[in-house]
Amino acid sequence: MVAPRVYAALSQPIVGHLDPYFFQITEEVRALLGYVFSTQNQFNMALSGTGSSGMEAAVANFAEPGQKFALLANGYFAERIGEMARRQGADVVRLEQQWGRPFDPQNVRDFLRRERPRIVAFVQAETSTGLFNHAKHICEAAHEVDALVIADCVTSLGGMPVLVDENGIDIAYSCTQKGLGCPPGLAPVTVSERALEYRRARTTPVPSWYLDLLLLDTYFEGRRYHHTASATMFYALREGLAIIAEEGLEARWERHRRNHLAFVAGVEAIGLEMLVTNPADRLWTLNTPRIPAGVDEAKLRQYLLEQRGIEIAGGFGPLAGTVLRIGTMGYGSTAENVLMILHELESALAQQGYRAAGNAQAAAEKVLATPV
Ligand SMILES: Cc1ncc(COP(=O)(O)O)c(C=O)c1O
Repeated sequence: MVAPRVYAALSQPIVGHLDPYFFQITEEVRALLGYVFSTQNQFNMALSGTGSSGMEAAVANFAEPGQKFALLANGYFAERIGEMARRQGADVVRLEQQWGRPFDPQNVRDFLRRERPRIVAFVQAETSTGLFNHAKHICEAAHEVDALVIADCVTSLGGMPVLVDENGIDIAYSCTQKGLGCPPGLAPVTVSERALEYRRARTTPVPSWYLDLLLLDTYFEGRRYHHTASATMFYALREGLAIIAEEGLEARWERHRRNHLAFVAGVEAIGLEMLVTNPADRLWTLNTPRIPAGVDEAKLRQYLLEQRGIEIAGGFGPLAGTVLRIGTMGYGSTAENVLMILHELESALAQQGYRAAGNAQAAAEKVLATPV
């Protein structure tokens, strides 16, 4: 959901892409991105494109033909990173884990010691499964073999602790349409000094002109024309980030955590199980309850959409038909929304003859009533 203040920002008069006012906005965005990524990095920018453009920029600037690129693959979006790296000509080596299951730190360490890649990529918040891949052990193992770490933070930024510096992430990217509460259209990116040095030393040209981060820097920092960025999208992003700064990053995480916990308590009370078994590995922004036996997932979602005007997502790939994917992110992460979706879910399940084991509302309200 888009915050009302962001809708208002979208209607402001448009200035040119080289206007001093535009650069004032991009400078504010740069500083605020440092705050939401929890980093001292100075190289923070928003690329003109959706989250996938952030992914493509990260891969195109740091993967090189013939060099080892280690992929920690446990979901759909990790596969997309791997495909991009393959197209850049990198030698992609994979550590596989079942969708929805976390990586064992020792396996990661052994894999990276064995492969000694230049780049390690993983998805911090895997939207296809609802799993949070903990960054710290991955970054430590990668740095031990002197590799750079790319982290996909598309579904974590603004909703969960991304902690770029504390975790040691070298390159992180995200989107605007999830935890930041903006429309889709820009891809926030942050790059560490160490990764920048690596990038500056690169001798083969970055195959993508549009997403070459050093060329983009001549625009945002050098203030010379590179492409015609949309002032409107930057107004929206600045507003979304300002709202986060006003709420406070930690208070925002706590809001997401609490609403997620209330949702989980509610679905568990009616007898559903979560795909991600360990509560510490679950996303606070996106919840994946399993579909109980005898319930048709497609029919359930169709009922919610057509009868109740509520759109939720289903599983896909190996999880097709087996889970629901319900977002509790950004402006949409509220106690009211959690209670509403639990109520509607209960009636959608009942419509298919499912008998709830207990009271979802009472279980969720108990969590919501606990003092912070
Ligand atoms: C984890 C993850 N990475 C990348 C993307 C791609 O982002 P976009 O669809 O904004 O291009 C998504 C989209 O949902 C995502 O969830």
